[in-house]
Amino acid sequence: MENFIYHNPTQLIFGRGQLAQLEEKARQLGPTVLLVYGGGSIGRTGLYDKVISLLQSAGCRVHELAGVEPNPRLSTVNKGIELCRKEGVHWILAVGGGSVIDAAKAVAIGVPYEGDVWDFYTRKAIAQEALPLGTVLTLAATGSEMNRGSVVTNWETQEKHGAGTTFPTFSILDPEHTFSVPRDQTIYGISDILSHVFEQYFTHTTEIPLQTRFAESIMKSVIENAERVLTDPEDYDARANILYCGTMALNGTLPVGVTTDWATHSIEHAVSAVYDIPHGGGLAIIFPKWMRYVYHENVARFVRFATEVWNVDPSGKTDNEIALEGIAATEAFFAQIGAPTRLADYAITDEHLQLMAEKATPFGPIGQFKTLTSDDVAQILRLSL
Ligand code: NZQ
Ligand code: ZN
Repeated sequence: MENFIYHNPTQLIFGRGQLAQLEEKARQLGPTVLLVYGGGSIGRTGLYDKVISLLQSAGCRVHELAGVEPNPRLSTVNKGIELCRKEGVHWILAVGGGSVIDAAKAVAIGVPYEGDVWDFYTRKAIAQEALPLGTVLTLAATGSEMNRGSVVTNWETQEKHGAGTTFPTFSILDPEHTFSVPRDQTIYGISDILSHVFEQYFTHTTEIPLQTRFAESIMKSVIENAERVLTDPEDYDARANILYCGTMALNGTLPVGVTTDWATHSIEHAVSAVYDIPHGGGLAIIFPKWMRYVYHENVARFVRFATEVWNVDPSGKTDNEIALEGIAATEAFFAQIGAPTRLADYAITDEHLQLMAEKATPFGPIGQFKTLTSDDVAQILRLSL
């Protein structure tokens, strides 16, 4: 195991009816708030009205940044920064999925920064200050509700980058707020959660039994509950379990003492930057291809994955065969839940393949399990076509 410092200051407020806590939080954080939300789902579900009413009861003046896109755009973030400066906003409340939260994080670090907020995403600056941020999560996927990551797309330059920004002060997670998530977004969320675990599970770090079993517990819990949420979107316990898994998969618990990978996320972000496809859909396509490309680097880890997570029977098989069965089981699971399996499902051809490979490696080779150059990325993308 490697050295680590573990710190996570986000207060997680989880469960049925927990939205009521918002009023007290709002009183503590100040009288002027920027409410950030997406393209209208919170209006349709009635959540918008409930949030406004709680903020008003707390005596808050509410300004709004509405219409945050899935794969949020830098231009939208800049509008939010301007609005906060003009109105003297004290804190930000994000109500929505990962895109809304990520945009809100970008606004939170952009307001006190004199330069261009994109500097944080191109590694020219490190965030030192931020406006306080609260979130009400409506979609299980990114873990953004309890981490400091934010992913923003600069559509003019077709770049999509993540940055370390700011932890939410609090996040309210009521599984009922995810009942209305459409089937496709539910599938993308499941793919994203599993992919977060894969990025941190496939490692060469040894003697990490707790981290390994934490990761396997999350994967098994997601797999067990996936069919349930897809069959009955209002199955409270299944939604609750997927929601909690999403948070735990990317809140800093899994990578402690472990060298993690993250190449597949960089590849997916490059695809989304060029084609604007859903993040979880891209991951479901690319991750199994990455697995096939790299498993030789540590076959034993893939054998463990196959036997522990997918219950592959190892008897009479070589390690290579067991590892490949585990990868095939991963592909079969994604296909079974209805996730896309090829880039062709999004009408993506090899036309911009080299461009995407370059965009996936803007700061040099990526990944730790196997270090990938842009040529490696191009091969993985070709396998994904
Ligand atoms: O915009 P609205 O109308 O709210 O609709 C959204 C959006 O169309 C809808 N939705 C959300 N909650 C809903 C709902 N529809 C009905 N009922 C609800 N309760 O779902 C659509 C997708 O929302 P989005 O926020 O884009 O999805 P997700 O949470 O998957 O976020 C994806 C973004 O997060 C980034 C991705 O790259 C992508 O840009 N990521 C952020 C990470 C982080 N901050 O740690 C890590 C991830 O790996 C990921 O890269
Ligand atoms: Zn992800």
